[in-house]
Amino acid sequence: MDKFRTNRVRVRHCGSSMEENNSYTTDGDGGSTETPPPPKEGMTTVSHHYFGDSNGSDDAVSITIIESMKEDYGLFVWPCSVILAEYVWQQRSRFTGIRVIELGAGTSLPGLIAAKVGAHVILTDDSNRLEVLDNMRRVCELNNVKCEVMGLTWGVWDESIFSLQPQVILGADVLYDSSAFDNLFATVKFLLENSPGSVFITSYHNRSGHHLIEFLMVKWQLKCVKLLDGFSFLPSWKASGLSGNIQLVEIRV
Ligand SMILES: C[S@@+](CC[C@H](N)C(=O)[O-])C[C@H]1O[C@@H](n2cnc3c(N)ncnc32)[C@H](O)[C@@H]1O
Repeated sequence: MDKFRTNRVRVRHCGSSMEENNSYTTDGDGGSTETPPPPKEGMTTVSHHYFGDSNGSDDAVSITIIESMKEDYGLFVWPCSVILAEYVWQQRSRFTGIRVIELGAGTSLPGLIAAKVGAHVILTDDSNRLEVLDNMRRVCELNNVKCEVMGLTWGVWDESIFSLQPQVILGADVLYDSSAFDNLFATVKFLLENSPGSVFITSYHNRSGHHLIEFLMVKWQLKCVKLLDGFSFLPSWKASGLSGNIQLVEIRV
């Protein structure tokens, strides 16, 4: 967990505003008027993430996320998620009306923005992390979006996975533990093959500087059709608080 610590702080300054408190707030962006019940323990924060130009364009969207200071990967907005969400926003015409599934969604920023721009979204995370799944339901309610929330553990073949036919699979910072790569890619490859024409779009920290994606493409016989530096499309007002080698890739069978 330590290697992510610095990023926790950075997110506070990267085009999002954050309030620390023990309750929830909604802003004027179509958020729910009902206040979801707070988690049972741990200090929560509410962060606001803005999508649009820095001058406040007409079609701008704001997403509110509930985060927790608890030591759980899935209760915090990681920098990769900011980058993937921005990519979805900038490519929003591509997402209107399509089926999207987010893997390891955690606080779900990319999936929520996909839903805001008109995609039919299923947010998923580890079936055993009930608190993360509960938090996903809360943020959907808070942002007034109708996403399905589902437990989906990588490499586990529950019946529900067989009927999923996403056109886009999203995953932010899901390549962080090499011991989970095989399970993750078994699930990704199954979903890609089960839904012809689909694409996996993922943002990840290239911490080692090695050719991770090339290695995974050969191993899983997949094709990387796009590879971008995550900062190449991030507006400067969002990029200023982030650092690291974050890449975004699109992968197909
Ligand atoms: C580093 S966090 C990224 C969270 C979120 N996507 C973001 O970028 O803010 C990794 C996420 O993967 C989820 N995860 C880890 N192992 C998993 C597994 N085996 N199956 C499904 N999800 C898993 C965690 O619960 C967590 O939400």
